[in-house]
Amino acid sequence: MPSTNRNSATPLKPGKCAIIVGSAKGLGGALARKLAREGFVLGLVDRNSELLVQLCAEINAGNVGQAFPYVQDVTSYEEVPALFQKILVDLGGLDTFIYVAGILLPTTPTTYDFEKDRLMISVNALGALAWFNVVAPVFQALHSGHIVGISSVAGDRGRVGNPGYNSSKAALTTYLEALRNRLSRYGVHVLTVKPGFMDTDMLKSSPRTFWVVSPEQAAEDVYKALRQRRQTIYTLGRWGWIMFIIRHVPSVIFRRLSL
Ligand SMILES: NC(=O)c1ccc[n+]([C@@H]2O[C@H](COP(=O)([O-])OP(=O)(O)OC[C@H]3O[C@@H](n4cnc5c(N)ncnc54)[C@H](OP(=O)(O)O)[C@@H]3O)[C@@H](O)[C@H]2O)c1
Repeated sequence: MPSTNRNSATPLKPGKCAIIVGSAKGLGGALARKLAREGFVLGLVDRNSELLVQLCAEINAGNVGQAFPYVQDVTSYEEVPALFQKILVDLGGLDTFIYVAGILLPTTPTTYDFEKDRLMISVNALGALAWFNVVAPVFQALHSGHIVGISSVAGDRGRVGNPGYNSSKAALTTYLEALRNRLSRYGVHVLTVKPGFMDTDMLKSSPRTFWVVSPEQAAEDVYKALRQRRQTIYTLGRWGWIMFIIRHVPSVIFRRLSL
């Protein structure tokens, strides 16, 4: 765990500090670089210690921002409360929490694999809930803060291709909506992000891709939405129109499509 010469937060005050879970590469890595350029002090959490340490070194070699690495597998839910407290003390405050970690395990429309479904739900949904349940009470008490969850267009409808992934993202999207409804009255902002396709390692598991954005472009979209206190965004934005239509296709028609 890192040492830091920042003053410990006593009492905790909101500042330009963020925790990003699932930040070693892909969208999480791009968000870490973006927030560092904006001057944030970052607690970066991921299971990939080598990439995480490299990313922190890269950020700390720059002139703005600062980053500390914390190794955690998000399915080790019981570690979260103590790790969260440690990061709060190291950072000296917290303004923004972003859950990015996710896995997409390839399957086919005729495959039924409980182990894959269990893993996707564990990382994409339960890992997020473990973190939200320690972050939300702190922000509620502070009457401030931003919580961001990276969900997916895949959570908007159950499709033939990957029910486990669809369900994990639907659970995350609904949980974030409930958190928003709980916390907005305390001044806490909750943002749901629904990417379409991003050019990351995860994309290698997708059979068909189009309108692919770079993780850097998606990170810019997330940061802009944070500043604007948006509730839900799609990246690319045009996915919002497409998914509006897809959400309203009657089930009797939707089940005949190979979407
Ligand atoms: N790429 C897309 O087209 C796309 C589209 C829609 C939504 N999304 C969502 O966007 C988010 C970011 O995806 P990405 O494309 O940036 O994926 P990525 O490049 O694969 O990065 C995901 C990061 O999460 C980490 N991670 C995975 N499982 C973990 C665990 N159990 N504990 C801790 N860290 C873990 C990964 O570490 P490892 O390297 O060790 O696995 C990796 O650093 C995900 O939630 C994904 O579902 C992606």
